[in-house]
Amino acid sequence: MTITTCIFDAYGTLFDVASAARRMAQQPGRGDLQQIWPELAEIWRQKQLQYSWLRAIMDDHTDFWTITQNGLDFAMEKLGLADDLVLREDLLALYWELAPFQEVPMMLATLKTKGYKTGILSNGSPDMLSGAVESSGLETYLDAVLSVETVGVFKPDMRVYQMVLDRFNCPKDQVLFVTSNGWDAAGAAAFGFQTAWVNRAGDPVDKLPHTPHHILENLSHIPSIAEG
Ligand code: LAC
Repeated sequence: MTITTCIFDAYGTLFDVASAARRMAQQPGRGDLQQIWPELAEIWRQKQLQYSWLRAIMDDHTDFWTITQNGLDFAMEKLGLADDLVLREDLLALYWELAPFQEVPMMLATLKTKGYKTGILSNGSPDMLSGAVESSGLETYLDAVLSVETVGVFKPDMRVYQMVLDRFNCPKDQVLFVTSNGWDAAGAAAFGFQTAWVNRAGDPVDKLPHTPHHILENLSHIPSIAEG
């Protein structure tokens, strides 16, 4: 099949979600975070994702910004940081300008040069996504930034993946969906997209009904995978 459209998950895929806690730990006076920032970032992310799945299952949607704060509050309490309101505020502010992984601008520029349609499909709320895309200068490389807020449910609900077809008006098998989340790759493959899983951590493949079509160490090979 011919790929015409490359769609990316945002958080953890284009944008490094650990960069907020890492940057905080580098601030003067934040020696207390030297050892624990990776654990803080990991618990924050895992709780944020769990809350997205649970909210979808319980049919009790709220926006991604709310569950991002809920996840951080859990992580800070777990690590004995609950009273550090300045840390909370600073980490949340950094989440609006997460660093993209270093290969992202060049990879997206290459896709555009080769004539592919490109977009983000994310749980993120529209204003969070605008903040991340603009602060990293990626807006010129993206044809669309699609937020689940349009359908009011989080991934991997199939209504979310359908948004790509509604926007780009193309057949499912022309879409290459790229994500760092194994469960998101499984959802997108179940929907009928071609999938590429970015496995930076060297994790095992998720034991779910659909496995990714491609597994990558980073995003730099996406243009050659799209070409087939
Ligand atoms: C997103 C989350 C799942 O960007 O990372 O949709």
